[in-house]
Amino acid sequence: MARRKPLPAALEVTVEDLDADLCGMGEVQQGETTRQVRLRNALPGEQVVARMLKRRRGIWYGNAAVPEASAPQRREAACEVFPRCGGCALQHMSGEVQLSHKERQLAAFLEAEAVVPAAWRPAITGPQFGYRRKARLGVRMVGEQVFVGFRESFASRVVDMQSCPALDPRLSALIVPLRDMLVLLSVSRVVPQIEVAAGDLRVAVVIRHLQPLTADDEQILLAFAGRTGADVYTQSGGYETVQPLPGKEAHLLSYGLPEFGLDLEFSAVEFTQVNMHINRALVRHASSGLKGCRRVADLFCGLGNFSSVLARRGARVWGIEASEAAIARADANARRNGIQNRVTFAVGDLYGEEAAELPVPDDLDGLLLDPPRSGAGPHLASWLKPSIRKIAYVSCNPATFATDARVLQDAGFSLAEVGVFDMFPQTTHVETLGVFVRS
Ligand SMILES: C[S@@+](CC[C@H](N)C(=O)[O-])C[C@H]1O[C@@H](n2cnc3c(N)ncnc32)[C@H](O)[C@@H]1O
Repeated sequence: MARRKPLPAALEVTVEDLDADLCGMGEVQQGETTRQVRLRNALPGEQVVARMLKRRRGIWYGNAAVPEASAPQRREAACEVFPRCGGCALQHMSGEVQLSHKERQLAAFLEAEAVVPAAWRPAITGPQFGYRRKARLGVRMVGEQVFVGFRESFASRVVDMQSCPALDPRLSALIVPLRDMLVLLSVSRVVPQIEVAAGDLRVAVVIRHLQPLTADDEQILLAFAGRTGADVYTQSGGYETVQPLPGKEAHLLSYGLPEFGLDLEFSAVEFTQVNMHINRALVRHASSGLKGCRRVADLFCGLGNFSSVLARRGARVWGIEASEAAIARADANARRNGIQNRVTFAVGDLYGEEAAELPVPDDLDGLLLDPPRSGAGPHLASWLKPSIRKIAYVSCNPATFATDARVLQDAGFSLAEVGVFDMFPQTTHVETLGVFVRS
């Protein structure tokens, strides 16, 4: 088989535009062939030198060095491993520039679906760094060292990092102790990943290992837990195998929504919004979007993040979610916060055939949707009971938000207000809240 030529180590590229992932776009001439290239850390108008790292469907991808003459919107990256680290993609842009690109991207998706919002809510912003309360970190043994961190952009190697400014500082501070501890374990070569999670009061570390731990390993982990104050769990298989260290109890993490007198618990491996400052704003705006609604279904409800707030604001809520663990947690959270009489949670696959008919009353007046990236799914239109007046739709993918917005529009709802929430600064992820009202 003919071997593919290696990618060039350094190429000069004139950046013409940004693509949908906010990578700089350009072209290079290779003999007879014109190559499309996509570059991180590159802004339109710049002449950059880039290292090519990956090719896919004829396009070359790579990272650019900071050019001598930089575009006016460039700012200095906060982190020395940017842009090599795949954890952040946009540190070379200010927060305002990042948000204006995200808003433009959302507007373009809506325009393509002929959905015209009545109003744009100004982007809701929060801390630009230190916001990230959850992460799955890769682990890589290099010689006698262990690297713990995010994977490199356009590559699967784990970055050699000592800290991460995007992570909650309590989680960032665990990176070096984790490296120092992992190197001592007998299983250090078969630890593929570590999940770290922070609540308001505690932090947790879940260590996935592919071979059994020895008694010495357990002692090393106990000493690490003692030194760092983190709750340490081991995971030998699926999430059902997550367990505390011998002699230790499992502790739940928690986050407060003080404006609503709520405190919600979760385990380190359960879904929660990663940016608590923005989540607090998001639950406030989403529940205000459903103001006046008394009987609301919260679909893709997770552990009850929105349901609890809606119930606290006086609504009767029905929450549905695929994860049994999340529903059990939602029930426990409702009892813990004294709202169990205002909420009913049920496990259900909202993309499955049976979800065309939901176990909710016929006289709902509000709907809250917070689906995964794939959007609300095939049954969205069938959920729109005639009594529903308002819909708050929270989305982490502007493309599926727009196609679902079109379904809602075709069913007689108009997009009264839409806007971006800065849930994931420095990354290309876009979090959107749209409020739809029956026209
Ligand atoms: C973006 S999260 C939102 C969770 C929750 N609303 C919150 O704010 O914490 C999406 C949720 O959809 C759930 N989910 C994924 N696939 C699903 C399906 N097929 N049916 C129902 N829920 C699903 C996930 O378990 C997850 O809890």
